[in-house]
Amino acid sequence: MLKQLFRTKSLDALVHEGEEPKHQLKRVLGAFDVVMLGIGAIIGAGIFATIGTAAAGDAMRPGAGPALMLSFVLTAIACGFAALCYAEFSAMVPISGSAYTYSYGTLGELVAWIIGWDLIIEYAVGNVAVAISWANYFKTFVAGFGINIPDWMSIDYRTAAKIPGLLEHAPHIFGVPIVFNLPAFSIVALITVVLVLGIRESSRLTTIMVIIKLAVLGLFIWVGFHYVKPANWVPFAPNGWSGIQAGAAVVFFAYIGFDAVSTVAEEVKNPKRDLPIGIIGSLIVSTIVYILVAGVFTGIIPYPALVKTLSTSQAEPLTLAIQYANIKNWGNFLVGIIAFGSVIAHTAVLLVFQLGQPRIFFSMARDGLLPQSFAKVHPKYRTPYVTTILTGLIVGVTAMFTTIDEMVDLTNIGTLFAFILVCAGIIILRKKEPDRPRGFRTPWVPLLPLLGIAACLYLILGLPWITWIRFAGWLLIGLVVYFSYGYKRSLLRKEL
Ligand code: ALA
Repeated sequence: MLKQLFRTKSLDALVHEGEEPKHQLKRVLGAFDVVMLGIGAIIGAGIFATIGTAAAGDAMRPGAGPALMLSFVLTAIACGFAALCYAEFSAMVPISGSAYTYSYGTLGELVAWIIGWDLIIEYAVGNVAVAISWANYFKTFVAGFGINIPDWMSIDYRTAAKIPGLLEHAPHIFGVPIVFNLPAFSIVALITVVLVLGIRESSRLTTIMVIIKLAVLGLFIWVGFHYVKPANWVPFAPNGWSGIQAGAAVVFFAYIGFDAVSTVAEEVKNPKRDLPIGIIGSLIVSTIVYILVAGVFTGIIPYPALVKTLSTSQAEPLTLAIQYANIKNWGNFLVGIIAFGSVIAHTAVLLVFQLGQPRIFFSMARDGLLPQSFAKVHPKYRTPYVTTILTGLIVGVTAMFTTIDEMVDLTNIGTLFAFILVCAGIIILRKKEPDRPRGFRTPWVPLLPLLGIAACLYLILGLPWITWIRFAGWLLIGLVVYFSYGYKRSLLRKEL
């Protein structure tokens, strides 16, 4: 049985499956498109929302303070190691299942299943966080036009409980306050409909969204820079290394997405060259933007003021910074612009991940590990509608009732775990198949992947313990599902 659990699928078979005419996707994307797609998936809730928690801390963790900049550097290094490993894999096995596929080819079916199950956390749970953050910025954006969405229908219960008076003013049914996040559900529902109808995010649309988000963040950096008071950067790390580490573990969320580039592997013209460029290029651009934003953000708002504000209200950090800067005449206009850019940025992230999740389900169903209905394609729209709707429902409903920080933490631990396995996979594959042609070679193997593993473990340690428990629980459920379903139905097992 052990042998069966760790039986790997041959990489040639994996590549061949993707080349079968009935499974073939159109190869239209070039290196530039892939970089744009990467930035499209990367820049979103992480920079627009989670930097507040990372800088200020919360009940579960110390804040990084101005050393948030260092947290971003630290995380970029960890992601850099993982990105180099992803680059080697994606160029060698350009198949849309991403880490799930790589694990099937190197570590065996059980690990592949665990990773596939784990990627649900990265994609679906990650999108829950992005949807909640989208709703916050959307609310700020429409408020600029005088439309005020009531608090009770745009927040989750536990965040509401932190805000004085909110629960009392919510409508009550049988004495129970009614609180839920309608905008978060609505955006997910809308995107789900669009995806089912088959209006796939074209690379041109993504490029436009990326230009808007980079322009808006550029504007924030440029304008905000004039309101930076270097005194606010002192003390630099109010909670020392523990604050920096905890901050790094939170802002890790901001970098997630460069790996999602690997899910378009089957649509790239020259995957051997363009995927590594896309993965590493988008990571570099985002890192530069993030460090600059973090510097300006912490330079505008003094650490104590940030802690005070975030502990009693629901605020979006970047607009908060602009409000704090108290810019005369066009401060409000700038808040509106940032909220708009943020809504666009979030929408791009939501779209890419909401598109990616059904593809991973699709790969798993194709291997027999999930029901065949998951691989169903809509007769008219030619989209994987079953999994798209299922993903939409799960993400939308969860986003109505959960807090963003919890979802971010869970996404981070799940994704870090996937990165660890990808790094380990590179080491194993160099031993198992040293002569296989590699379009891109990760330098200094095994040192670099080992450093990647260590860095990801270090970030996991920075997450609250409750997150580890939730993650362990999720993996356990996954094992139960595998042994009661996929193990018996696996096509690889049947072949053997
Ligand atoms: N990196 C993505 C974001 O920050 C998930 O929204």
